[in-house]
Amino acid sequence: MLILGIDTSCDETAVAVVADGRQIVSNIICSQIDLHARYGGVVPEVACRAHVEALLPAVDAALEKADVTLSDLDAIAVTTTPGLVGALLIGLSTAKTLAWSAEKPLIAVDHIQAHLYSPHFEHPALEYPYVSLVVSGGHTALYRCRSPLEIQRLGSTLDDAAGEAFDKAAIILGLPYPGGPSIERAAREGLPDAIRFPRSLLGRAGFDFSFSGLKTAVLYHCKGQNAAKGDGLLPEVSVPDVAASFQQAVVDVLVEKSLAAAQACGVKMITMGGGVTANTLLRERMTERGGEAGINVRFPSRALCTDNAAMVAGLAHHLLEAGQIADLMVDAKP
Ligand code: KG4
Ligand code: ZN
Repeated sequence: MLILGIDTSCDETAVAVVADGRQIVSNIICSQIDLHARYGGVVPEVACRAHVEALLPAVDAALEKADVTLSDLDAIAVTTTPGLVGALLIGLSTAKTLAWSAEKPLIAVDHIQAHLYSPHFEHPALEYPYVSLVVSGGHTALYRCRSPLEIQRLGSTLDDAAGEAFDKAAIILGLPYPGGPSIERAAREGLPDAIRFPRSLLGRAGFDFSFSGLKTAVLYHCKGQNAAKGDGLLPEVSVPDVAASFQQAVVDVLVEKSLAAAQACGVKMITMGGGVTANTLLRERMTERGGEAGINVRFPSRALCTDNAAMVAGLAHHLLEAGQIADLMVDAKP
């Protein structure tokens, strides 16, 4: 079964062809990072215009790379939620048009559920049930997964997502966008225990997260208690030490909450997905702490951690098998 997947939920124009929900036949990702870098974050209107330009060439490239035509496909899948509404609509109207004109079923995919599915490509023996952490620029949440479609949310961030905290801390430190990779790079020269930043909600019952206090702590540490947006760093501030201590605080919370969730659910497997999962300290710490607790940890390669359409087409295989075909009137839900 061959499915074409489309994801335009945020700032990546992504199209992929996946066979049988497992094998990635083509995976095209047009990044917009350079367009948004000078604004320090994704500008929705800029993202939409870039999607309009990039999407049809990306569809052509994905089909060509897979050496198939539209008529060879079994379905067209598209992310309909969550995301920037304008960006989602561009992918959705394109997918509807392709599905209608080629007379193929349309499959509506939840972007978060697709991130949850992403470890399955490189770990085909991965078995349910497991607990999964989705941690990206827009989301930080823990899920209990019993199958690709049976997913229960255990907790999520009450304010900022972890990736958003990375991006905002990087702005405070004057590091380039996107913040995650630049903080990770700066942290290599710093001490993770130089500054004791808060680990919000750690040790408390429940599986919710909070990162806005940490962001404020970084701001006050770097610019002083009465800091204004444009202020420079205090003279004694060491950017590598702040980066390393900040990264350690985020990773400690993500790892310990995930372990607690796995233990509470009685499962022996933790998976991860989303852009922040590209972080080396997070990957190493989760594996190490999981090992100590007798819990296996699986995550995708870095290319499948960040936004892509292979995860959309992969999950769509299971939705199609379950008969969950979308009506052409389906709408985008931001
Ligand atoms: O999943 P994703 O590509 O897009 C969303 O759905 O949000 O995640 C992007 C987020 C950004 O906040 C970025 O700073 C973060 O993932 N990120 C990282 C790393 N690489 C990307 N955060 C920490 N360490 C990294 N190496
Ligand atoms: Zn994402």
